[in-house]
Amino acid sequence: MGRAGGYRKSDRSRVRGGGSDKKPATRLVTGGRRKEWTGAVVNPPVWRASTHLYDSVADMRAGKASNEDGRFFYGRRGSPTQWALAEALTELEPGAHGTMLFPSGVSAIACALLAVLRPGDVLLMADSSYDPTRSYAEAFLKKWGVETRYYDPLIGAGIADLICERTRAIMMESPGSLTFEIQDVPAICAAAKDRGVTTLLDNTWAASYFFRGIEHGVDITILAGTKYIVGHSDVMLGSVTCTEKYWQRVRRTAQQLGQVIAPDDAYLALRGLRTLDVRMRQHQDSALKIARWLAGQPRVARVLHPALPDCPGHAIWRRDFSGSAGLFSFVMDGGDADAVAAFVDGLALFGIGYSWGGYESLALPVDPTPDRSATEWKAEGPVIRLNIGLEDCADLMADLAKGLERYEKTACKR
Ligand SMILES: Cc1ncc(COP(=O)(O)O)c(C=O)c1O
Repeated sequence: MGRAGGYRKSDRSRVRGGGSDKKPATRLVTGGRRKEWTGAVVNPPVWRASTHLYDSVADMRAGKASNEDGRFFYGRRGSPTQWALAEALTELEPGAHGTMLFPSGVSAIACALLAVLRPGDVLLMADSSYDPTRSYAEAFLKKWGVETRYYDPLIGAGIADLICERTRAIMMESPGSLTFEIQDVPAICAAAKDRGVTTLLDNTWAASYFFRGIEHGVDITILAGTKYIVGHSDVMLGSVTCTEKYWQRVRRTAQQLGQVIAPDDAYLALRGLRTLDVRMRQHQDSALKIARWLAGQPRVARVLHPALPDCPGHAIWRRDFSGSAGLFSFVMDGGDADAVAAFVDGLALFGIGYSWGGYESLALPVDPTPDRSATEWKAEGPVIRLNIGLEDCADLMADLAKGLERYEKTACKR
């Protein structure tokens, strides 16, 4: 494969299979599998490298002229394993120019915001955002002179009224963490574009697969690849994918912060990505069955699942998304923390863990109350979040049914 320098992204004749004219499931299989990165095997191997070697001083100097994936330079700029993953993720978002990789979803969010914000700016953030995204705004961006104002995730085109002279960016997450409100991303992006405001979207739930952010007007989409992209609960990963307008800013900020992921992690993420379509469809089917069944249980007040008609923003989900993922919450009708513990602790097939998007089911008691400021969270009882994995759906339902019995007994005793 030669020495430092090497392959240029613009040389499309080298691409085996890729290209955004293909259907999404095909792109998952072909993305990033350039012949010069895979050689004679199917998957780009793990290139463990810090030092890249040049043929000559002239070659070394020429290397500095280009700062794009596909050119050997130094380990921090990655090698074919990371380039292949970045290219495959870019192909998930038609209209995107490139993708930068990060060691976690949070580091991707932090870098994307840093790339677009300046001291003195106002950032608009959805009130239903992932709590570490909020904490980053409150703990880091605030110190750095950026003011964050929170908005109702159902605001839609009404966001225009919140945009002021100092508003630089809008951070969306759809559906919202824990409560699953779907935002009118196209309406928010249209209002933002009118006023020259940058839009960012945490697209982790849809995995850039059931919702394509850039096609819907977003400037920068962010994934916690830790979830569905990796899919096997064994790698931390983040990515930022953006349009050409933002590419240099995002790339340089990530490079200035020294962000790089291990080739082993890139390899595992690529392996996960290849089966994303079948996994997402199975997560979708099982989660929907379980969500509908839970909605009919007397102890359950509400199920917060974007594909159910009473979920806030459901009509927008129907309009904009091509599917639904395996993560949702449900609100109990009465009961307390002890009843929740009896429900969750006794589950045989659901682990208790913070992450989601893996092949195994998880159950977690959650409380949206402390992470709200623009809206008030009102509920009939405690909230439980489920990650529906790839186990047989009937087994999962039987496990949950016993959990509901335990909930009932514990709640009635008190
Ligand atoms: C919606 C969302 N965004 C971002 C993240 C952060 O990802 P990571 O844990 O890889 O930092 C998470 C993690 O749970 C998440 O749920």
